[in-house]
Amino acid sequence: MNIGLLGFGTIGSGAYDIINGELGHFPKDRARITKILDKDPSKHADSAQIVTDPDEIMNDDSIELVIGLLGGHDFEYKMIKRALESGKHVVTANKAVIGAHFEELTNLAEENGVMLRYEASVGGGIPIIKNMEEQLRLNTIDKVSGILNGTTNYILTKMTEEKTDFDDALKEAQAVGFAEADPSADIGGGDVSRKIAILSSLAYGANIEDEKIIKRGLDDVRSADILETLRMGYRVKHLGESVNKDGEVSAVVEPVLVKESHPMAGVKNEFNIISIEGDVIGELQFYGKGAGKEATANAIVEDVLDVLDAVDEGRLLKKPVLSGNVSLNGNDAFEGAYYLRINLGANKKHDLSDILEKVEDVVSLKHVNTQDNKVFIFTDKVKSTDFDKLAESFEVGPGEMFYARIVE
Ligand code: HSE
Repeated sequence: MNIGLLGFGTIGSGAYDIINGELGHFPKDRARITKILDKDPSKHADSAQIVTDPDEIMNDDSIELVIGLLGGHDFEYKMIKRALESGKHVVTANKAVIGAHFEELTNLAEENGVMLRYEASVGGGIPIIKNMEEQLRLNTIDKVSGILNGTTNYILTKMTEEKTDFDDALKEAQAVGFAEADPSADIGGGDVSRKIAILSSLAYGANIEDEKIIKRGLDDVRSADILETLRMGYRVKHLGESVNKDGEVSAVVEPVLVKESHPMAGVKNEFNIISIEGDVIGELQFYGKGAGKEATANAIVEDVLDVLDAVDEGRLLKKPVLSGNVSLNGNDAFEGAYYLRINLGANKKHDLSDILEKVEDVVSLKHVNTQDNKVFIFTDKVKSTDFDKLAESFEVGPGEMFYARIVE
């Protein structure tokens, strides 16, 4: 089978190294990349032609499968649609496109008698989509959660273990190819919400829209938070979580604290962990590299192999069933104890006693510490919706407040 590769960046060159190069055991007699779309025609690929015009791939009938690794949204969305409409199978890592158009694109693939595979869009190299599809044959899944962004987990690990400052840790994550070209989706939680949308849509059999998921990123975390929470026996993590209670889905992306003994505390650097809970199997956890060239390329090429096998066997891989009757209702289902830091100097309206009073009106305090003109508060359990409202009521600038739910 001839393959057209869209994008020859970090992951694209990784997929090329496996399919056309010497990395791994790809069966060379079964498929090869014949054309690569890239802005830069001078890029070198030994055995495939670099093209700058997508028509050269889309109008080439000898190309039966397109690998979409352009990143971004608009152009790749158009390309994926066009490939499916042209009767080409598509394998992609693009969570922005899959997260936003899951139902439309899976339907389009079915209408055109081709396959759309997106394993690499969630959890980098972790085979979560395939495993979830397998578990769904017997189980009703009612919870999906995990550390789903390699960049932010890398940043938090460096801040915790090497006391690296946020910006330097981000630069390192960009240099090794974990972060997106524009890292604002990594930092702001958009990348995780797309991944949670994809997993939740599959798990609950309904189109869960990424845009409706409540998200808070890591923009406000500071070294002071890392130090204070570490002192209290916690690690800061960035979590995506969704639960389905009788058709009412709550989903959230937010910073959380976990005890040092919690399994998530040991998930470091670019590694991800994903947990799903089924009514028959119970909890299943999947762990592995969530970002990076080889791991993500591995997931891409696994999808290519699945398409090749299905074509050889004369069948199509199943399209997800999205007929479930569920509605997405904010973060209603979540509650927990909270950690809150407010910089006292920045908050002209409220002095320390005002802040404590305001918090106590909502939830009782368990521990308060003041240091370097900051107050660090640990609370009792409270509903997340109530704590979010409380946090919103403090009029503070960027970075002057950080809060995180404690996950047990
Ligand atoms: N930027 C993403 C991350 C890449 O850091 O997890 C993998 O989706």
